[in-house]
Amino acid sequence: MRKQIVAGNWKMNNDLSQTESLISELKKIKKTSHAEVMVAPTFTNLLNAVVALKSSDIEVVAQNMHFAENGAYTGEISASMLKSVGVKTVILGHSERRAYFNETDDMLAKKVDAALANSMRVIFCFGEELADRKSGNHEQVVESQIKNALFHLEASAFQNIVLAYEPVWAIGTGETASPEQAQDMHAFIRKTLSNKYGNTVANSVSILYGGSVKPSNAQEIFSKPDVDGGLIGGAALKATDFFAIVNAF
Ligand code: PGA
Repeated sequence: MRKQIVAGNWKMNNDLSQTESLISELKKIKKTSHAEVMVAPTFTNLLNAVVALKSSDIEVVAQNMHFAENGAYTGEISASMLKSVGVKTVILGHSERRAYFNETDDMLAKKVDAALANSMRVIFCFGEELADRKSGNHEQVVESQIKNALFHLEASAFQNIVLAYEPVWAIGTGETASPEQAQDMHAFIRKTLSNKYGNTVANSVSILYGGSVKPSNAQEIFSKPDVDGGLIGGAALKATDFFAIVNAF
């Protein structure tokens, strides 16, 4: 059975004390679902978050990393640095990284390789912009994002890859893809994987939906057969909302 996952992307929010308070709120709430739970604080708070969540079943993941192992890349963080503070999973290719920091498919392919070479798990994000959706190009855009960054990989690499479909027009906008739109795209993504790697791989990869998921819509989105969880932004900043989404499974 595919893993169900709910990951909270805290983005550039929460200083150290805010991070610690949010974590202590999260630890008070009872998890009633089987979903794996992850949270992604900023780089400066990763170590404290790992320590604070050590005996919990919430995994701490990173929001980004560089593809090089080390060297003259001022301001960047490598996979081995993340691992050295206990982080084993990294989000790559978030649309904000693509839009504001010019991350390209080629760069993301290198980041994916670096993460996998370091035995890390990758949550790989992609999704179309509003103009693509309006012009009916959304499937082509998504297909090329996946192909360009991932299709050089061996089938076995997909054991360590989680996909996150996040239509850009639904991120932080309050506008959510309808459960049917999410299901249609997730089924298309699975078909794209199956065409290249076969059904066994395609049926084993978890595909998360992201974009304005909240307690009021999580259950309906998660009820769709090809939606295996969510990548949650805004609603992940409030412990009760985040766990309402986790427990929607
Ligand atoms: P949102 O963000 O839930 O605030 O729309 C999702 C994301 O960017 O991962």
